[in-house]
Amino acid sequence: MFRTHTCGELRASHVNQTVTLAGWVQTIRKFGSITFIDLRDRYGITQLLFNESLNTELEKNPLGREFVLQVNGTVAERSNKNPQLPTGDIELLVTDFTILNAAATPPFTIQDDTDGGDDLRMRYRYLDLRRGAVRKNLELRYAVNRAARNYLHQHGFLDIETPFLIKSTPEGARDFVVPSRMNPGQFYALPQSPQTFKQLLMVSGYDRYYQIVKCFRDEDLRADRQPEFTQIDCEMAFVEQEDILHMFEELIKSIFKEVKNIDYTESVQRMTWEEAMWTYGNDKPDIRFGMQLLNLKKPDSVYRDRNASPELIDGADFKVFDEAETVIALAVPGAAEYTRKQTDELTDWVKRPQIGMKGLVYIKCLADGSYKSSVDKFYSEEKLKAIADACGATTGDLVLVVAGAEERTRKAASELRLELGERLGLRKKDEFKLLWVLDFPLFEYDEEGNRWVARHHPFTAPKPAQIQTMIKNEPSIHDASKYLDHPYAQIKANAYDMVLNGNEIGGGSIRIYQRELQEKMFAALGMDKEEQQHKFGFLLGAFEYGAPPHGGIAFGFDRLCSILGGSESIRDFIAFPKNNAGRDVMLDAPASIDDKQFDELQIRLDLKK
Ligand code: AMO
Repeated sequence: MFRTHTCGELRASHVNQTVTLAGWVQTIRKFGSITFIDLRDRYGITQLLFNESLNTELEKNPLGREFVLQVNGTVAERSNKNPQLPTGDIELLVTDFTILNAAATPPFTIQDDTDGGDDLRMRYRYLDLRRGAVRKNLELRYAVNRAARNYLHQHGFLDIETPFLIKSTPEGARDFVVPSRMNPGQFYALPQSPQTFKQLLMVSGYDRYYQIVKCFRDEDLRADRQPEFTQIDCEMAFVEQEDILHMFEELIKSIFKEVKNIDYTESVQRMTWEEAMWTYGNDKPDIRFGMQLLNLKKPDSVYRDRNASPELIDGADFKVFDEAETVIALAVPGAAEYTRKQTDELTDWVKRPQIGMKGLVYIKCLADGSYKSSVDKFYSEEKLKAIADACGATTGDLVLVVAGAEERTRKAASELRLELGERLGLRKKDEFKLLWVLDFPLFEYDEEGNRWVARHHPFTAPKPAQIQTMIKNEPSIHDASKYLDHPYAQIKANAYDMVLNGNEIGGGSIRIYQRELQEKMFAALGMDKEEQQHKFGFLLGAFEYGAPPHGGIAFGFDRLCSILGGSESIRDFIAFPKNNAGRDVMLDAPASIDDKQFDELQIRLDLKK
């Protein structure tokens, strides 16, 4: 037998037992004639004691870090117990050992706090994966997977695999393509998601489907995006939006319970997309803390903010505000004490190119009840107080105001809010706040391309009350800058995103299931009949054979894991991730292929510069 126990298993109750362990040498410490070795495997670490009778043997066969070792010995109580280690009460008095395999010196230390940089760790990912910190992440990933499967199984969902070699699915990113040898000159696309397949399964009567599945998207990468990532992909037939929201918030709650032992008993908060855009400046607000934005100008945009308070800044002849398209204020709790240096630093922060503001106005709500501001030349104390009050600021708070072009200013205010939330410690890693964002616009207008694009994807249904608006109106627009006046700009989708701590962890919609409406949608997106037939003939055809009403959602599995694990980066939760350039530095992929492979594919490489 290779081993009788694992390296994490032995306790005081095993004392005097003869056992065999196998694992990797973590550390070697020599004290005179005796040698201590920490032996590590997936389950833990056990201290081995080699006494002087083994010295000759050790000299003949010197051990090094990461050697694979098998040892026989007797379990003994330690005189110097280590309460940090589950096996810390015992050690193994080694009687004999076998080196199963030697190891080269690893390029970084295999422990939680490693000295290896990102690139080095990724190149030797198989060594990085030996570290306890990474192993814990993969264990958490498996726990989330198990919890999701348990819940979905209990609720009658069927796991059905869908193909990877398919035709393009429009989820808004570029496709990865695969040439077909048997069909020269033709290409498969890898699925950006199983969207159309899961809808076809609904047509086929499998009314509760799920799959924990790889999706492939050729898009710009960030900490929370990988070119291949995993979704918990779900679809249901004979449902309305409310059924979906209920089913899947319970899924997430059951994952919280099983994985983190969190009882999330409150119902998940809901917010319309418009409210999210104006009160938090983005469509995935972090609602663990307040600091809501106050719009000080009436917006002339697709966002119809009902709470705007323009009268607060009007008539002061302050050009920066008067001439700006948008002016947004927010209250920072307890920050009235900020020094000049601190407000200057915040001003520099919003002026960075990534944020792009020209400046930052502040109002301090001082302890003596007075107000001090960088714009007190223009605004009376009474006006400053009115602005501060409207923001919900009280004594001791600091009000910050940014002004400029609408989209940029909203984004800047949102970033500023998140940054200050972070600095003030309001974004706690162990606090989890779920949110449904609802009522997204069905369309967005691409001014450059002068066309409507689907905000979610082209299979998303409009709100039932707005179906006629879609059917009765033609999509064309003569003056692109006036797209807001087009009836399509006001159509809301039966779509929903689930947000966790400011991250979009899932998104879905109720689908179109009638051929006529689906054709209208494709036409609105600029597809003529021929293109519709070529790209989606199979789906339009299926809708003629009794397609039931249906809807679904997909969760970003990697994202969910990383948030539950308290990390910013989904890479930490993927066994073999790609770097930000989309490369696997361990495999050195992507790479060129052999001439023979090109020949078989009948492809000649002629790269455009
Ligand atoms: P969507 O495109 O919103 O919806 O994707 C669903 C969820 O997947 C995660 N996600 C990603 N995670 C890591 N890397 C990426 N590149 C990446 N892209 C998306 C996000 C997102 O919320 N077919 C629809 C779902 C549906 O309508 O049912 C879809 O794919 O967490």
